[in-house]
Amino acid sequence: MTQPLLAIQGLNVGFKVFEGEMKVLKEVNMTVNAGEKIGLIGEMGCGKTTTMKTIIRLLAEPAANITGGRIMFNGTDTLSMSRGEFQKIRRNSLSMIFEDPTAALNPVYTIGTQVRDAVYAAGNFKSKPTRAEVQARAVRALEEVALPDPERVLNNYPVQLSGGMRQRVCIAMALLSASDLLIADEPDTSLDVTIKDQVLRLLNDLVERKGTSIILVTHSLGAVRKMTDRIYVMYAGSIMETAPTNMFFTEPLHPYSRVLVASAPRLTGRGIGEGIAGRIPDYINPPAGCRFSPRCELAVDECIHHRPEMREIRPDHFVACPQVDPVVA
Ligand SMILES: Nc1ncnc2c1ncn2[C@@H]1O[C@H](COP(=O)(O)OP(=O)(O)O)[C@@H](O)[C@H]1O
Ligand SMILES: [Mg+2]
Repeated sequence: MTQPLLAIQGLNVGFKVFEGEMKVLKEVNMTVNAGEKIGLIGEMGCGKTTTMKTIIRLLAEPAANITGGRIMFNGTDTLSMSRGEFQKIRRNSLSMIFEDPTAALNPVYTIGTQVRDAVYAAGNFKSKPTRAEVQARAVRALEEVALPDPERVLNNYPVQLSGGMRQRVCIAMALLSASDLLIADEPDTSLDVTIKDQVLRLLNDLVERKGTSIILVTHSLGAVRKMTDRIYVMYAGSIMETAPTNMFFTEPLHPYSRVLVASAPRLTGRGIGEGIAGRIPDYINPPAGCRFSPRCELAVDECIHHRPEMREIRPDHFVACPQVDPVVA
């Protein structure tokens, strides 16, 4: 088998807070192959952003505490790299776009200053570029994200643009350095309903054309269903299920995935489903066994006391639940 682009192995991350330590991520495993499009879904507060920030080394220190695991990027453990070594990967291979494009842009500089900085940082020039070359690349970067009148946009300050335009600028800047992996953490959440789809479609077209891998975190199950090859379901800091996207949506197998999919707003017009009783457990004293067991209708003693192992229930479809029987195809 070829080496994956990204492999998160047994990652544990906690946060020190006044009351003690929140043990948020618990043995997270995730693999992203070159060119693969991954969807990461789960309720608010389940650790999606923490996972993404750990990959890109943006965790808030000193509160954040990585207590175990490895993150292999192209076969090298990034967590043991120096800041300087990691910066090279950041510059050339890896980037992230966030939920809030306003916070991601500096309000006191023009879009042009920020995009040109990103052009410089991404490098890839044979010799020292002229101002005109940098400007031309900045214009091209904005054209790629379908921003009309890019020269004018470059002269604007962030506040002069709409939310959708700002997110397009962030995508453009991220794509300058993300030649291998783009992490998109709820890029649609803060946008108007009418713009969400456009931005997601744009993102999809761009990563497909460039062959960039993406991890898309979103609450829109419709979007991950359309845009991704593989789904990971996270609950309370643990991965509960992973499968190829079509297989997952045809038949989610983990009890949590089932309620998650069923409680998503329905396109058929039946309105929002039942939702899930209870809430995400306390991370300071998380359940010893399956973290979903306190809310799970199928939980038995074993679930309360033992962490369930990921099992391959059918080819390439993995579920961390002892109550799910292997599917006979
Ligand atoms: N810097 C931090 N300090 C303390 N707790 C944090 C910090 N960042 C995240 N958390 C906690 O970690 C949990 C997971 O958060 P997050 O990764 O943002 O979830 P998601 O992105 O899935 O909504 C939450 O309970 C959140 O309050
Ligand atoms: Mg988040």
